[in-house]
Amino acid sequence: MVSVRLEKLTKTFGKTIAVNELDLTIKDGEFLCLLGPSGCGKTTTLRMIAGLETPTKGEIYIGDVLVNDLPSKDRDVAMVFQFYAIYPEMKVFDQIAFPLKMLKKPKEEIDKAVKEVAELLGITDVLNFPVERLTMEQKQKIELGRAIVTQPKVYLFDEPLTNLDTKVRARTRIELKKLQQRLKTTTIYVTHDQLEALTLADRIAVMHLGRLQQCDTPDMLYRYPKNFFVAGFIGSPPMDFIDCTLVEKDGRFVLDAGIFSYDVTEFKEDIEKLTNSREFVIGVRPEFLTLSLTKTANSLAEAYVDIIEPLGARMIVNLKVGNYTLKANVRKMPLTSGEKVWFGFDKDKLRLFDKKTEHCII
Ligand SMILES: Nc1ncnc2c1ncn2[C@@H]1O[C@H](COP(=O)(O)OP(=O)(O)OP(=O)(O)O)[C@@H](O)[C@H]1O
Ligand SMILES: [Mg+2]
Repeated sequence: MVSVRLEKLTKTFGKTIAVNELDLTIKDGEFLCLLGPSGCGKTTTLRMIAGLETPTKGEIYIGDVLVNDLPSKDRDVAMVFQFYAIYPEMKVFDQIAFPLKMLKKPKEEIDKAVKEVAELLGITDVLNFPVERLTMEQKQKIELGRAIVTQPKVYLFDEPLTNLDTKVRARTRIELKKLQQRLKTTTIYVTHDQLEALTLADRIAVMHLGRLQQCDTPDMLYRYPKNFFVAGFIGSPPMDFIDCTLVEKDGRFVLDAGIFSYDVTEFKEDIEKLTNSREFVIGVRPEFLTLSLTKTANSLAEAYVDIIEPLGARMIVNLKVGNYTLKANVRKMPLTSGEKVWFGFDKDKLRLFDKKTEHCII
């Protein structure tokens, strides 16, 4: 087991900065997801770690070894791209044995390793089947088997579940997580699917435009996004945002959002310490918005119910307030489109972003 350390890792293609001064340490035995929208530099980062792409600048350490100049085959990493079986007529055994044969390992060693891996993945009974006779799920396992049979120090996965339908995807995700927990091999897993990242990762590194935005546990990312981008990217439906101006009135700090005002005097010191800006964006998760038919102590403003998206026990209510459409994810309640409701949220659920720097202040 080893850690992987990236220092100021940078890759440019002509004028495109694919990866920009990435500082990141993946701990020994950790499952780290690289998450971000298309084109943010995830694959390029992974390819540099694998040795398939040369960094323009910066260092890559695997364990304590600087590997920048080490060829891919000497890095002891296994890269898995999208899962698929390459040779449909080849037997499962030979598919899994393939990487070991390439390494010219003795036959007994190959036999033993393949059988162990098959046992681990629960595919012992299909070892002599040609791959074309397997289910999609079994095919996934062969790809996994191929990755783990060489016992690399680090796994690198690049969106391996993309080609699968939703059900198989969910099941394979769980298999993958179980496997990693058992093997405790340092894993870097690239995805643009936040659900995948949230369910798999010990920590998630969120990237945007080649830069690392935040690296944290799923829970911390969800509760304390460091900036506007992370706040909007993590969470489904995404966070509700409302522009506001901070005004000081009789010694009190109040956020004036036009449609309501919100007293934040208790955060006065924090706000003053972090910024002298007056323009902010309020952020609240849809699941933290509360709705009521009559005004309560918690109510901030009235809103019109627009479209309702039923989700079984819960529902997403689209609310029209001034120029905004806010989403509230609430327990199922009798509401109809066009109805008026009051909404509010608790103070501990409020996040405040500096409009200029986009940093989260509280
Ligand atoms: N070989 C290349 N030549 C030129 N530009 C490249 C090359 N590889 C990547 N890029 C560019 O670098 C940026 C990062 O690409 P990368 O493939 O790392 O993104 P990604 O996060 O993996 O995206 P996706 O989610 O779509 O797979 C993009 O703007 C891409 O067009
Ligand atoms: Mg990619």
